[in-house]
Amino acid sequence: MTKRIAILTGGGDCPGLNAVIRGVVKAAASGRGWEVIGIEDGFDGFLHPEKCRLLTPEDVRGILPRGGTILGTSNRGNPFSFPIVREGRVEVVDVSDEVVSRIQMLGISALVVVGGEGSLKIARQLMDRGVPIVGVPKTIDNDLLETDVTFGYNTAVQTATDALDKLHSTAESHHRVMVLEVMGRYAGWIALESGMAGGADVILIPEIPYDIEQVAAAIARRVRCGRRFSVIVVAEGAFPVGGNRVVQEAAGGQCVVERLGGVGEQIRRELGSVLEMDVRVTVLGHLQRGGTPSSFDRVVGSRFGVKAVELIEQEAFGQMVCLSGRDIASVPIDDAIRSLKLIDPNGDMVRHAEALGIMVGR
Ligand code: F6P
Repeated sequence: MTKRIAILTGGGDCPGLNAVIRGVVKAAASGRGWEVIGIEDGFDGFLHPEKCRLLTPEDVRGILPRGGTILGTSNRGNPFSFPIVREGRVEVVDVSDEVVSRIQMLGISALVVVGGEGSLKIARQLMDRGVPIVGVPKTIDNDLLETDVTFGYNTAVQTATDALDKLHSTAESHHRVMVLEVMGRYAGWIALESGMAGGADVILIPEIPYDIEQVAAAIARRVRCGRRFSVIVVAEGAFPVGGNRVVQEAAGGQCVVERLGGVGEQIRRELGSVLEMDVRVTVLGHLQRGGTPSSFDRVVGSRFGVKAVELIEQEAFGQMVCLSGRDIASVPIDDAIRSLKLIDPNGDMVRHAEALGIMVGR
């Protein structure tokens, strides 16, 4: 039977989103003849009829290598607590009724939500309002449970590794300490894996509060061994023992989640006062989110898209597609959002990093 399904991309963008969109559109069209409606700018799009548009195979031609999302995204548009400006003041209102009735008006029989923990939690709430949903796990932070990896993460790690390679050569030439701040709010996966791939001397992650004196001592030890430079990679969510994350902008009003950033600068100041070395900081920021996806993210993203359509065909709603070994499988969205996937401070990854001589802040 001909179906009309919808797809939206929510939260921060990441490389591989277009591969998922293309996968959904192609799998829906070929053999099934289903229609796909693309919803622009995340859940926001449902509030504006002009942001709900037909996506044909022709529309997705050539988008596989493109970064970002052709649908646009937003991490401010939670329909259950939606910020609006009334008489110059920001008020938070529930517009979920409007979203549900738009979905009904459009005749949508299933919605594919491509997003991280935040977007999938919204999806879960919409399911309670009767919307049939299939989830696709996305985030460069790789902090979603129940999937071996999220798409976008592999490209972000490569971007951070390339940056570390470049910082290495200039650190060595100038006998400096180079600090690279990477993304990772609660989970330090990008820092840990890029640090291991890029030969960092120190890796600081949110899961292991760091002791700056120990970090300084490790760098001083390297100097005594004739290695007059060091490279540190720090996740934006890392914080010192007994301290807090460095927040650039607190949550409130239009800023839905607090904006992190600045821990690299904090480390520069702290190390600068105890080491007689020049300490410099690079903040990699959104470079990690942009650009062309790696082949891994293109393949996983494409397969996620196809699998999402297969789940809709089986009416397996409330499921999230996932990567399990080399297979694409599915798990209940509920299981994926029950908490975040953090690094085990005593697990194999950290143990292996330490065995390689990398200092992890403790
Ligand atoms: O998508 C996750 C993430 O990249 C976090 O690592 C980071 O804190 C956040 O998004 C930044 O989001 P924004 O671009 O909205 O400031």
